[in-house]
Amino acid sequence: MKGVVFNILEEMVISNEGMQVWNNILQSQQLEGIYTAGDSYPDSELFALVNEISAQTGVPCEKLIGHFGEFLFSQLAERFPMFVDSKSDLIAFLRSVDSVIHLEVKKLFTDPSLPRFEYEDLSDGRLLMRYHSPRRLCILAEGLIRGAASLYKTEIELEHEVCCHKGDSHCDLIVRIIE
Ligand code: HEM
Repeated sequence: MKGVVFNILEEMVISNEGMQVWNNILQSQQLEGIYTAGDSYPDSELFALVNEISAQTGVPCEKLIGHFGEFLFSQLAERFPMFVDSKSDLIAFLRSVDSVIHLEVKKLFTDPSLPRFEYEDLSDGRLLMRYHSPRRLCILAEGLIRGAASLYKTEIELEHEVCCHKGDSHCDLIVRIIE
């Protein structure tokens, strides 16, 4: 994962828990905690940090990753406003993640670790985002989608029955807009 993701995780922990807790987390994992935005660091380091944050704060990992996804979205939107300004509504925005936003991310960063999304329009205006990634960060994807919904001031319901953590080869994230 890119250093920018670690930078934003650090920001979230420091703003919610304080600098001392972040320092304790780094210390117990014997990590220096210096991450350059555009450099890549092992995914295992991110997972170790998340496990340790969960252990030190008592927040279960899944909840933590979901919250982090929402925070990550707001921070990415601030750092890269040009990617989120161009779409008029949430569904158009979500449809642009794979072919526009992450494509731009590939131009900006060397070898980013990105998921692949396939899209399908379902009945009642629901949007299916089929998530494929060896990192299996579907809960992070859920949080990012919730973060986007909040930016677009749109209330949504997310369905996530088909899941790579239940033995499926991918995850089906179904977004329904609550009118
Ligand atoms: C709802 C919108 C979005 C969704 C669902 C989404 C999904 C994801 C997920 C799940 C990952 C983790 C990697 C993986 O699962 O394989 C990821 C990574 C990433 N995404 Fe997105 N993303 C969204 C919007 C954005 C935006 C607006 C940016 C702005 C630049 C962005 C930039 C990145 C970057 C930099 C990474 C990390 C790449 C790396 O560490 O190598 N994404 N995205």
